[in-house]
Amino acid sequence: MNVAILGTGYVGLTTGACLAYLGHQVYCVDADPKKIEALERGEMPFFEPHLADVVADAKENLRFTTEYAQAIPAAQVIFIAVGTPPGPGGAPDLRYLEAAARGIGEYLGPHFTVIVNKSTVPIGSGNWVDSLVRDAFQKRGGSRAGGSFAVASNPEFLREGSALGDTLYPDRVVVGADEEPTAEVLYTLYRPILEQTFTAPAYLPRPEAIEAAPLISTDLASAELIKYAANAFLSLKISYINEIGLLAEKVGADIAQVAKGMGLDARIGTRFLQAGIGWGGSCFGKDTAALVATAAEYGLHMPIVMAAREVNKKQRERVVDKLLGELKILKGRTIGLLGLAFKPNTDDLRDAPAVDIAKRLIERGARVKAHDPVAMDRFRQEHSNCEVLLCASAEEVAEGCDALVLVTEWPEYRELDWESLAKSMRSAFVLDGRLVLDRTRLSRAGFRVSGLAG
Ligand SMILES: NC(=O)c1ccc[n+]([C@@H]2O[C@H](COP(=O)([O-])OP(=O)(O)OC[C@H]3O[C@@H](n4cnc5c(N)ncnc54)[C@H](O)[C@@H]3O)[C@@H](O)[C@H]2O)c1
Repeated sequence: MNVAILGTGYVGLTTGACLAYLGHQVYCVDADPKKIEALERGEMPFFEPHLADVVADAKENLRFTTEYAQAIPAAQVIFIAVGTPPGPGGAPDLRYLEAAARGIGEYLGPHFTVIVNKSTVPIGSGNWVDSLVRDAFQKRGGSRAGGSFAVASNPEFLREGSALGDTLYPDRVVVGADEEPTAEVLYTLYRPILEQTFTAPAYLPRPEAIEAAPLISTDLASAELIKYAANAFLSLKISYINEIGLLAEKVGADIAQVAKGMGLDARIGTRFLQAGIGWGGSCFGKDTAALVATAAEYGLHMPIVMAAREVNKKQRERVVDKLLGELKILKGRTIGLLGLAFKPNTDDLRDAPAVDIAKRLIERGARVKAHDPVAMDRFRQEHSNCEVLLCASAEEVAEGCDALVLVTEWPEYRELDWESLAKSMRSAFVLDGRLVLDRTRLSRAGFRVSGLAG
């Protein structure tokens, strides 16, 4: 099928590359000419494992442009995958969505086209996009009845760091459409994924457990709500274990054992149950805020979701409190941060706890050094006014530090030569913000170790 994807960010580029890999003809469109120029040179605009491989494998079916006029007219399916960042008051800023919808209306072709909201958008956005497209279509002289198009919702559940695997081998595909023929187009598009009939790339083998991907076929509003409800649930699972962690510390319980004992109950599950610094990234904060804002429009409160947000915010403050408790004075101290990205295997710094923690420490007069395996270039570009001393290695961070904080659980940080790190520090204290370090080994190396929950 002919597909256009608007927005070549984490979601749009991953979707475009995977659909092209499956054999569809894909045009990826972005408003940012620098991104498109880089993609045309074969450079990825962000770090995501295997993205460059899939883009290279699919290059015969994949084109890049900044021009809607090139991509839209022939498209049978148009994905909107533009950003929906948080706006003032919690509701998302929909200006990019609006521009994309109007742009589609201006160039819509004469055949039946399915327009798909893949961006995370508030409930009711399907109808709004429909009216914006129709408006723009009529303004350019299209018939009163409007072009032959329908809007569907296909929320995205990929995780940065495993985006390609999540797209090719999803837990489920959700399609929201109010008319059956609209949904049919998306089943056809996704059939190789739904039925797992494509040849898996050698670098991304099909997990053994996967035979087919379940399809949830529903109405527009339900699909839109599924996305927010899922992200809010994951957020509150993390905040819940962090709240239990506070009590665990008081009563002398081991939060890692508590989480394991809870999580092995199949009704609960072990994932998203690691106590620590809490969530960051572009989605959980903005999506929980949007859910609360949507509920408020209907006169509803969402105390559980609001509490999850509050607990998460406090975890970042607790990092500073813990360091203060250990070092007594932060002024003039040197604190080393291991990890800047909001999670491993990405360079995404949106709402990254490390940035927040660094700013809080600097405000209190501490000097902050940091390392990240992939996110330091992005940090230089996006946070040039944040006075963090970036170091080429974890060893360089540790040198002369009063404390280290493990902020992002990159696997390589577990394997550091902790003995020599301890020797190079002014005081060998490590705050394991993700509960992943081997405490016995670190103690043997001469470290005092603490987590956020004891
Ligand atoms: N990043 C994730 O892990 C993730 C996961 C699931 C859902 N989502 C949702 O998907 C959407 C996109 O997220 P992202 O992280 O890929 O965003 P992003 O910021 O990485 O990418 C958005 C892209 O859209 C481009 N753009 C903006 N306006 C445009 C326009 N009018 N036409 C064409 N391109 C335009 C921007 O230049 C940018 O490259 C958001 O709604 C987000 O909530 C993100």
